[in-house]
Amino acid sequence: MSKKVTKAVFPVAGLGTRFLPATKSIPKEIMTLVDRPLIQYAIDEARAAGIKEFIFVTSRGKGALEDYFDHAPHIEQELKKKGKDDLLEILKGTNMESGAIAYVRQHKALGLGHAVWCASRLIGNEPFAVILPDDVIAAETPCLQQMVEAHAETGGNMVAAMEVPAEKASAYGLLDVSEDMGSMVRVKGMVEKPKPEDAPSNLAVIGRYILTPKVLRNLNKKQAGAGGEIQLTDAIAQEIAASNDVYGYRFRGQRFDCGSKAGFLQATVAFGLAREELHDEFSQYLQEMAAIQKAAQ
Ligand code: UTP
Repeated sequence: MSKKVTKAVFPVAGLGTRFLPATKSIPKEIMTLVDRPLIQYAIDEARAAGIKEFIFVTSRGKGALEDYFDHAPHIEQELKKKGKDDLLEILKGTNMESGAIAYVRQHKALGLGHAVWCASRLIGNEPFAVILPDDVIAAETPCLQQMVEAHAETGGNMVAAMEVPAEKASAYGLLDVSEDMGSMVRVKGMVEKPKPEDAPSNLAVIGRYILTPKVLRNLNKKQAGAGGEIQLTDAIAQEIAASNDVYGYRFRGQRFDCGSKAGFLQATVAFGLAREELHDEFSQYLQEMAAIQKAAQ
């Protein structure tokens, strides 16, 4: 049995340029899917997986993100006074315990690997999870929980994986598989954003990881990889040669790339339709829109 995973790192120090001009003043992770910021989905997923310590790697201009986790007693009082118990419950569900959240600063956006390395001292010497809040995953059993359960059996390093269309594969970190065990694969190589002719597969890494502290030591070298950035993929790949304990986990669920505009809009539609109170009105509107589009063609 592997040691329990109780810490998660949320790298949120990126510039979010694909959402400019909004991200001039709004952190990408505060942008809302229906009525909840992206970061709330990530926190809820981490909690469901048993995470107790939440480490945010932030940067300049992310103040709204830090404020979001403060309690809001004035709003709570107002809701209580007005008897709006349902809203009060929703609000209280976002409260974090004192001491559960830590913030570290990444002073320059040198890459995802560097962002994770910035949290090294807070992680210490135990396995830890990494969640990228802009990858939102709709799943019956939350994705990280699925991974934590699988990791309890395997230990080592585990990355969430999904098949992507071959023509899009080069936008991802890709896995070279040595053994396919169904939901789990053993990995013999990993490469970040390869040229199409160098792609080892179309099994892509997406934003959920469970890692050993050895990966942090690999990141210590601060070697730049694809795009001139310090890549997390490269540091994990080094563990294949060192210990042969890197696994890909084919999670059950639907992943939305909320770091891109198209992905964010798709997620908005999917999560909007999934809400009981919105479903009928929203679905009727979408059908009308589709009919208008068709008529215009
Ligand atoms: P992205 O590749 O989506 O970059 O980062 P980005 O800056 O957020 O967005 P674009 O591409 O400019 O639109 C993936 C994740 O890694 C974090 C981001 O915050 C995001 O959660 N990240 C990336 C960092 O924390 N630091 C970095 O140096 C790079």
